Amino acid sequence: MPETLQQEAHVWLVVPESVQDPDELEHFRSLLSDDELSRYRRFHFQDDRHRYLVSHAMVRKVLSGYADLPPAEWCFTRSQHGRPEIANRGTADIRFNLSHTRGLAACIVTRGCACGIDTEQLDTHHHLTGIARRMFSAEEHRQLETLTGAALTESFFTRWTLREAFVKAKGIGISYPVRKLHFDIGDDRTIRVRFTPELDEDPARWQFRLLRPAATHIAAVALHTDQAHELRIVQRWFGTDHAGVTRPPAGG
Ligand SMILES: CC(C)(COP(=O)(O)OP(=O)(O)OC[C@H]1O[C@@H](n2cnc3c(N)ncnc32)[C@H](O)[C@@H]1OP(=O)(O)O)[C@@H](O)C(=O)NCCC(=O)NCCS
Repeated sequence: MPETLQQEAHVWLVVPESVQDPDELEHFRSLLSDDELSRYRRFHFQDDRHRYLVSHAMVRKVLSGYADLPPAEWCFTRSQHGRPEIANRGTADIRFNLSHTRGLAACIVTRGCACGIDTEQLDTHHHLTGIARRMFSAEEHRQLETLTGAALTESFFTRWTLREAFVKAKGIGISYPVRKLHFDIGDDRTIRVRFTPELDEDPARWQFRLLRPAATHIAAVALHTDQAHELRIVQRWFGTDHAGVTRPPAGG
């Protein structure tokens, strides 16, 4: 276990579509549990099946970089709202969360810190301000209505992914009143959250970060920390070398 994970959160990224080597994919399939394999086979579209395979193989291989456990031996349970958690004993309180979309999958790993991650492709086809009216704070919605084009898309997906990351860190579901969160985003992309009082959340215990791993994609991270200082968020690209476990780099 790298000691630094206590002050860091690691974000592992992969472009699922870039993994096409048949031997690699066969190896990935060999890592999945029976449950994962049956979900994998149930996908109707090959693209979805492929993304699921690469994402879940990444989770297993990445986690094995933090504990003395081979990738195929990780076991997961699901919370009431479907959040996967590590079920293996003796894995030193490792927490993780996964997000996958066309063109990008991301896995965040922490030690003992509730974490959530969301990735989205910047996509202009939705009726963004209509969704914002229902899902964002009134102030955020008003800000969005002043924007058009790329600025609107960017601002919408920024606030969307931040909410999803928060909801995923809490491990709760679709019924959460996400309109009662408000995000202030500084010019330097620092993020402060405001909660309405009835949510009973302490903003000082939440840390958010936006990542732009590609021009086409955005990712947001949410961390629930009980520490006075913020965690350092380290971004890594997942390698596909199945000869060995993907280990976090020394000191990181
Ligand atoms: C569960 C939920 C968070 C998944 O988000 P998504 O954008 O559809 O999908 P992502 O790729 O980001 O995440 C999927 C992964 O998250 C994990 N996951 C599933 N349920 C989860 C939960 N309740 N909490 C945290 N993680 C969860 C799983 O690993 C899942 O991958 P898998 O299905 O391949 O096993 C989402 O469907 C949801 O319920 N959102 C409700 C919150 C809301 O109101 N959002 C609006 C924001 S403005």
